[in-house]
Amino acid sequence: MSSTTIPGSAASEGSLYVIPATDPEKKRLVTQYALKKRIYGWTSAVPRSVNVSSLSNVLDVAAGTCVWTIDFTNIPEVRARLKVNDHHNTTHTNPVRLYACDIETKFFPDKNLIDQLGITTFQHDVTKPFPADMLGKFDIVQISFLLLCLTEQGWTNALANCRQVLKPDGILMLNEADPVLYSTDFPPPPEDAPSHDLTASLSIQGWLGNANRIYAAFSVENGFIPDLTFRLPGMLAAAGFSIIDTHRAAAPSGKLCRTIAGGDLAEFEEFSVENLEFIFEHFAAVLMAKGKLQTPDGKKVTTQEALDAMVAEVKEGIRSEGALSLGRYIVARKDGE
Ligand SMILES: C[S@@+](CC[C@H](N)C(=O)[O-])C[C@H]1O[C@@H](n2cnc3c(N)ncnc32)[C@H](O)[C@@H]1O
Repeated sequence: MSSTTIPGSAASEGSLYVIPATDPEKKRLVTQYALKKRIYGWTSAVPRSVNVSSLSNVLDVAAGTCVWTIDFTNIPEVRARLKVNDHHNTTHTNPVRLYACDIETKFFPDKNLIDQLGITTFQHDVTKPFPADMLGKFDIVQISFLLLCLTEQGWTNALANCRQVLKPDGILMLNEADPVLYSTDFPPPPEDAPSHDLTASLSIQGWLGNANRIYAAFSVENGFIPDLTFRLPGMLAAAGFSIIDTHRAAAPSGKLCRTIAGGDLAEFEEFSVENLEFIFEHFAAVLMAKGKLQTPDGKKVTTQEALDAMVAEVKEGIRSEGALSLGRYIVARKDGE
């Protein structure tokens, strides 16, 4: 598999994720997780539809910083049964064992914390089959925010590989988002729409169009799926899963953090602007290097100054007007063989 990296990127061989595994990205992933929980109104690492009372093995795939796994240990029923090296040598009759993998181990937290929580970490590319001793082992597999990591074929392989490591009736939890930005003037499509109108999104004038000419264009250019929140339900059915719970949300950025959801997301206003600026800088650089970064009239952006101006304009637009993007979580059960 080819790997797309920007100069200085530390991505692993095989990874299509261009953002390097450095401290700013680790911090971004942790805050992004907190924002996601707030948007869906989750008070724990799982929605109410997921029963944690009788599970024994849990796997976080493409875990990044292990933010989800660490939060999962905060669920009281889970914490009480963690297979950890506690100082009392407690023997649990039905321990919960946590596993986390990623193609890139540099995102993982310090070994001390991993050991303290008893998390088994390992390097694994989800587009490849898991080791044979893991097949049929897990009660829950969670996978989140791979929208800019997996191609269509990558998703097909990933869903099949996740299915293989689940027990019969095991649960696959997914959280994804689409790389298409909307505003109050250009609102997201309705729930029953078949997809985004990408042509319209990419041709808007001004900062919102520029945002999509970086974000959505990057996704399309790399063969990722820009409408995962629409496509995943069908892809899961084709992969042998039944959906038991799903919810779509319009996630605000910038000014809209203050003005929608009763201002409940106001504390994320600055993060949401910096977050998009950070990822846009990386994606715009990759697109420009490929000659695929364009102005509204189709001219190529070729200089760092022009790229910086484009990102700055997008940042200012998000800050002063606000943007919306679509996210979806899905809880799916593995169907019988
Ligand atoms: C945006 S981060 C999300 C991390 C974490 N799931 C979260 O929600 O915070 C994407 C992660 O996917 C990992 N990744 C990319 N391609 C992968 C692959 N083929 N197999 C496994 N992990 C992959 C990256 O290394 C990165 O840690």
